[in-house]
Amino acid sequence: MDRIRNPFTPGAGVRPPLLVGRDTQLLDMSVAIQRMARGRFERSTLLTGLRGVGKTVLLNEFGRIAEQNGWRHEHLEVSDDTDIAKAIATLARRSLLEMSRTKRAAERAKRALGALRSFVKVHVPMSDGTTLTIDLDPRPGVADSGDLDVDLGGIFTELGETAADANTGLLYTIDELQYLDNHKFGALIVGLHRVSQIGLPLLVAGAGLPSLPGLAGEARSYAERLFAYSNVGSLDESDARRVLEESAASEGTRWHADALDELVARTEGYPYFLQEFGKQAWNVADGPEITRADVEIASTLAIEELDAGFFRARIDKTTNAERDYLRAMATLPGNPPYRSGDVAGALGKRTPQVGAVRDGLIKRGLLYAPRHGQLSFTVPMFEQFIHRSLT
Ligand SMILES: Nc1ncnc2c1ncn2[C@@H]1O[C@H](COP(=O)(O)OP(=O)(O)OP(=O)(O)O)[C@@H](O)[C@H]1O
Ligand SMILES: [Mg+2]
Repeated sequence: MDRIRNPFTPGAGVRPPLLVGRDTQLLDMSVAIQRMARGRFERSTLLTGLRGVGKTVLLNEFGRIAEQNGWRHEHLEVSDDTDIAKAIATLARRSLLEMSRTKRAAERAKRALGALRSFVKVHVPMSDGTTLTIDLDPRPGVADSGDLDVDLGGIFTELGETAADANTGLLYTIDELQYLDNHKFGALIVGLHRVSQIGLPLLVAGAGLPSLPGLAGEARSYAERLFAYSNVGSLDESDARRVLEESAASEGTRWHADALDELVARTEGYPYFLQEFGKQAWNVADGPEITRADVEIASTLAIEELDAGFFRARIDKTTNAERDYLRAMATLPGNPPYRSGDVAGALGKRTPQVGAVRDGLIKRGLLYAPRHGQLSFTVPMFEQFIHRSLT
C-alpha cells in the first residue's frame, strides 16, 4: 500500500496518531494542573517503564495539557554527564525571560533573574556559563548559599512565585531521570520539596526506567510522598487491537482477523513494537485488507529493523565483559528476574567478581534490579535479541 499514507510511527518520542491506554495518566495531569492553579498541593509525577512503552510521548502530551491550561512548559532530557545545576538554570532562565516580557510579572521576573544570576555564579563553572548570561544585577542571598539542595529550592521558589504573579504555571518535564546520580537526584527532590510545601504553581513530571522509584527512595526518604508514581506498561489486548485497527482505519484500511490476532500476539502489546510491525505490514500489503500472509513477511522485516535500530542502539557502547554478562543472563533457564548470583555462576565467577560489570549495565540503563539481588532487562524482548545477535 501507499507508503506515504502509512499511519504507523515507530520512533523515539514520536507522537502516535492514536494515543491509546493512557487516559488515567492524562486525566491525572490535567487535574493536577487545574488544582495547582487554585493553590492546592499536588504531587509531582514520576513515570516509570521499560524502553519503548511511551514515556516520552506521555511527557510531551503533559506539555500540551499544560499549554492548553495557560501554563508554560519546558523539557529536559538527562544523560549521564548532565550537570543538573546548569540544566535547571537553563530552563529557569528561559521561563523567566519569557515571563519578564509580560506586564504583570516583569518586575518579579527581573528580581528572580537576579537571583538566578547569583545561583549561576556559585553553581555553574565559568567556562560552562557562557550560554547563561543574564544582563541584570545579581541578587545575592536567595539561591547562592553553595548548598545545591537549598539553592535549587530557592530557584524553584522564585520560579513559582513569578509564575503565580504572571497568572500562569510552570511544568518541567524531565526525561531519562535514571541517569541522574543519587546526589543530583536528591538535590532536585529537596529543591522541589520546598516549593511543593508553599502551594506555588510549579510541577515536575519525570520519566525513567523502572529503577527510578528505588533511586528516588534512596536519594531522599520523603520522595515517596513527593511523587505520584505511575507505571507505564505494554497495552492490554483490546488497546493493542485498537492501535492497529484505528490507525489502519484512519487511512481507510482494515486487518483480516487472523492478521490482527497474529500481530497482537507477536508484539505483546508493546507500543514501539506495535508501531514497527504495523508499519511493515502496511508497506508489505497490497490492500485493501492486510492479511495474515502480509504479517508473516512483515514480521521478518520488522525484526530486522528493530535489531538494527531499537535493540542495537542499546548495546553499541557495551564492553566485551558486559556483552558476556548479558549473554550469560539470557541463557539462564526460566524467565526474568534472574538472581545476580546465578548470572555470576553461569560465568564461572562469584557475585562480587562481576559486580562492577553488573553495575555498569545498570548505569547504562540496560538492566535494573526489581529487588535486591535480582536482575531484569529494561528492553522488552531483549533476550530474544541476544539469542539472535550475540550468541
Ligand atoms: N499509547 C500509545 N499508543 C500507541 N503507540 C504509542 C503509545 N505510546 C507510545 N507509542 C509509540 O511507541 C513508541 C515509543 O514511544 P516513546 O519513545 O515515548 O517510548 P519511551 O518509553 O520513551 O521509550 P525509551 O525508554 O526508549 O525512551 C513510539 O513510536 C510511539 O509512537
Ligand atoms: Mg523515551
